[in-house]
Amino acid sequence: MRAIAQPNIALIKYWGKRDTEQNLPAVGSISVTLRDLYTAMQVEFDDVLERDELTVNGAGDNSMLPRLSACLDRVAGTDRAHARIFSDCNFPIAAGLASSASAFAAATVAAAAAADKQFTIAELANLAGQASGSAARSILGGFVELSNRDSGIEVTSLRAAAEWPLNVVVAITETGPKAVGSTEAMEISRRTSPFYSSWVEQQEHDLETARSAIADRDFGKLAAIAEHNCLKMHSIMWASRPPMVYWNSATMRCLQAIRKLQGAGIDVFFTIDAGPQVKAVCLPEHAVKVAAALSATDGVVDVMTTAIGEAARLMDES
Ligand code: PMV
Repeated sequence: MRAIAQPNIALIKYWGKRDTEQNLPAVGSISVTLRDLYTAMQVEFDDVLERDELTVNGAGDNSMLPRLSACLDRVAGTDRAHARIFSDCNFPIAAGLASSASAFAAATVAAAAAADKQFTIAELANLAGQASGSAARSILGGFVELSNRDSGIEVTSLRAAAEWPLNVVVAITETGPKAVGSTEAMEISRRTSPFYSSWVEQQEHDLETARSAIADRDFGKLAAIAEHNCLKMHSIMWASRPPMVYWNSATMRCLQAIRKLQGAGIDVFFTIDAGPQVKAVCLPEHAVKVAAALSATDGVVDVMTTAIGEAARLMDES
């Protein structure tokens, strides 16, 4: 069975876990699922296999296999047959572009179908979320909120992509994998950052502001709260011990380029995850200008423009 999922970019971020065993987030989050970046994941269970096998973009690659095998165990049960897994991804992996979100959302949907199991959206989100917190949001399309519940998490669609067709321009400033993975980095922040507890306390306010901005399609309001929430998350990392600075000098130059565009009346705002890439969210009519400004920024190696995309889904019935 083959499934496709798009990565998502958080506008109100998840940083920190309330339960590391279950991989439950300490805070809710709001994201947009991206249309033109994808991971397609094929899962075939086969009794003759002696172990799970993973092929990534056409080559054998075992780096993600332990997490993927654990994900398949949760979806299909530990008594499942071993699996042949083929992953195809059209953007840099583990570089702060949410490749784990699309990978585990696609793996969850493909494995559920391959094991002939029916799950609700909430169940799929919890299964994907146990592998990677942000993957739960890629189960749905458009603007997605992830909320904490006593029993786990819940994902809801706040708006379909077509109802507010924003664009996201991704500026790649470095293609290598990140130095510290987000799971480890979040734990360092939770244990050591003096700002961590205020982050958790303030998150409901930021979520509420973003929710109402999305309901009203108020770009300025969403821009202000998303930039604030992003910089707050990075402040936690910077003040952690050891400090974690995911930015490089081109990241900063992209922020300056975006401030300049804003000064010229362009509707655009930035967000940055656990990596040096900058994501500029803008109105579609400004995407060409935003992409041109970021392409011309020193240190930017690639720029991709994408619309907001759809939910994770099966690609065929094979
Ligand atoms: O899902 P993870 O464990 O890769 O963590 C994602 C963390 C951020 O991308 C920085 C924020 C978010 O909400 O996606």
